[in-house]
Amino acid sequence: MSEASGKQPVIEVTDMAKSFGSQRVLDGINLKVYAGEIMVVMGGSGCGKSTLLRHLIGSIAPDEGTVKLFGNDITKMSEKELDDVRKKFGILFQSGALFNSLSVGENVALLLREHTNLDEATIDIIVKIKLELVGLRKHTEKMPAQLSGGMKKRAGLARAIALDPQILFYDEPGAGLDPVTSAQINQLIIDLTKKLNVTSLVVTHEMDSAFMLADRMCMLDKGKILKMGTRHDFEVLRDRTGELKSEQERLVRQFLRGDAEGPITERQLASDYEEDLLMAHKRC
Ligand SMILES: Nc1ncnc2c1ncn2[C@@H]1O[C@H](COP(=O)(O)OP(=O)(O)OP(=O)(O)O)[C@@H](O)[C@H]1O
Ligand SMILES: [Mg+2]
Repeated sequence: MSEASGKQPVIEVTDMAKSFGSQRVLDGINLKVYAGEIMVVMGGSGCGKSTLLRHLIGSIAPDEGTVKLFGNDITKMSEKELDDVRKKFGILFQSGALFNSLSVGENVALLLREHTNLDEATIDIIVKIKLELVGLRKHTEKMPAQLSGGMKKRAGLARAIALDPQILFYDEPGAGLDPVTSAQINQLIIDLTKKLNVTSLVVTHEMDSAFMLADRMCMLDKGKILKMGTRHDFEVLRDRTGELKSEQERLVRQFLRGDAEGPITERQLASDYEEDLLMAHKRC
């Protein structure tokens, strides 16, 4: 899906900025995500990925700019209006965010009890369907403490899809998992996106996951989007050999390849040096 298709974006962020104290964490973000696509937001640790995600789910408000979901600006909504929008999206947090005192099945059922008027028998069927979708139907009775990391992610995913969301947000879905389990979770995300016809936004710094999942990708750096494009665009840049003219392309390429040397490393060394000098100056 692309801008050329003329469709309204499901997620639309315009000129969004956010500071914590004197630190400008997000600095003029523009992002559109279209129905049915998987958008991957990547970038180094601390570049603002989770902060961006928290704006998209309405848990923090921007200092500037707008965040539209389904065409409506959530930054201007009351808590009640926001709650209605929240029913239309699911979130998979890094930890899976399960209630430890409830079984896997109860964790999924809880949302249905809280947000629908369905009777218990219907809830029971829906819970089974959701757990089957993530491959956990046989583990309905297990408690979160009895699950492996990968199973927790699956259970979290079953919770995220409990209310038939139109958007799914994921924060580092592969974090803490071995490469095979991580790839299985990624495959599950792809399958669910296609089967349930949802729009997915995935935040990750793992390049294997990013390239496996993405229809389109963007790279955040120092609170700005450095590059946005299709997965193919990013693959081409990653595989380009020789000197690149623009600093921006060199930065993105180093990140995509995970090279030890390049502009990211030079920048880190330079800033460490500045800090060192400043500290030394203070001691004088
Ligand atoms: N509530 C907060 N108060 C103050 N600073 C914050 C707050 N939340 C985030 N930050 C700062 O904003 C910056 C971006 O944090 P964020 O969690 O968005 O990074 P990230 O890209 O998700 O990193 P990681 O890949 O390590 O998860 C960091 O410097 C962090 O310290
Ligand atoms: Mg994060």
